[in-house]
Amino acid sequence: EKGGFWSFMAKEIADQPKAVADTLLGRTNESGDLILDDARIDEATLRTIDKIIVVACGTAAYAGHVAKYAIEHWCRIPVEIELAHEFRYRDPIVTPRTLVVAISQSGETMDTLMAVRHAQEQGAKVIAIVNTHGSTIPRESDAVLYTHAGPEVAVASTKAFVSQITAAYILGLYFAQLRGNMFRDEIHTVLDELRAMPDKIQEVLDRGERVREIARWMADTSSVLFLGRHVGFPIALEGALKLKELAYIHAEGFAAGELKHGPIALIEPGQPVFVIVPSPRGRDSLHSKVISNIQEIRARGARTLVIAEDGDEAVTPFADEVFWVPQCPTLLSPLVTVVPLQIFAAELSRAKGLDVDQPRNLAKSVTVE
Ligand code: F6R
Repeated sequence: EKGGFWSFMAKEIADQPKAVADTLLGRTNESGDLILDDARIDEATLRTIDKIIVVACGTAAYAGHVAKYAIEHWCRIPVEIELAHEFRYRDPIVTPRTLVVAISQSGETMDTLMAVRHAQEQGAKVIAIVNTHGSTIPRESDAVLYTHAGPEVAVASTKAFVSQITAAYILGLYFAQLRGNMFRDEIHTVLDELRAMPDKIQEVLDRGERVREIARWMADTSSVLFLGRHVGFPIALEGALKLKELAYIHAEGFAAGELKHGPIALIEPGQPVFVIVPSPRGRDSLHSKVISNIQEIRARGARTLVIAEDGDEAVTPFADEVFWVPQCPTLLSPLVTVVPLQIFAAELSRAKGLDVDQPRNLAKSVTVE
């Protein structure tokens, strides 16, 4: 059932174009407007929402972190990301006008379930973004938006992650439609751009051999750093998490802007650093700031592994290696920039002879607190 792949992980990474495409299916009516049938929360209540809190753990929380950038931009509603296990044990400000979005592949993560209950006790409405039908979190939530990634067997999350981002974006656009934050045409344009993403993800997969080659050369690496900015920041965190989980390599993700506030002290000759470069066609200052970050770490001897958009020649003088991804709007770029990082972690794990589908000490669904 691995479909000819060497692991479930490899298969699930390859499944991502379909996972995103399927998650987008059936969300619009004949006029192209979003209809969320599963969202059982009535529109009048949704219109009163003045804050969104995403509760999730691990990779699912990083999907929420990505979605924060898009939802705040589109809907002008504050979005907070809270690790589910932290949310419960502080005194979060939750009111009936708060919408809690619980993101979970399994739908069974105990920490996330407890956060859902905690939110409901305080009168908040909860929408679940979940992959597994019939699981507990959607059953206890007020509404559900299913990701259609199909069963994810490998312990580490890949295709569920891109589907979670996609579903959270659909939710954000639905809000923008409901609240009139965006023109219909703008929403339809973003939906079309989202529908173009599966082919772009496929292109990144088709270019995967170079990533695998580099991963094999780096099999004895003991530490890797990941830098990103804006939506590239949670992708840096996710790249680091994948590497820890799958290859047992010490890895850390940073917001690139934090470098000079501390982490740059870690850079010594030979230190591999992945840098996720924002599109030069997006906010201009963002791109040039990340290029300066690459120069800074390169000057201190870092080995720079850069993920950049096709045609971005500004990166080549400072990169030891560039993994190119197709051009796409900045907010959608995580769907492509995460892919080389997943392939890298999986291949490095394979090169070390580890069990990529069942990393040590981990369980697919964490049903204890
Ligand atoms: C990382 C990973 C975990 C899960 C986390 C939440 O690769 O798989 O960090 O994302 O345990 O699990 P779900 O999404 O099932 O709630």
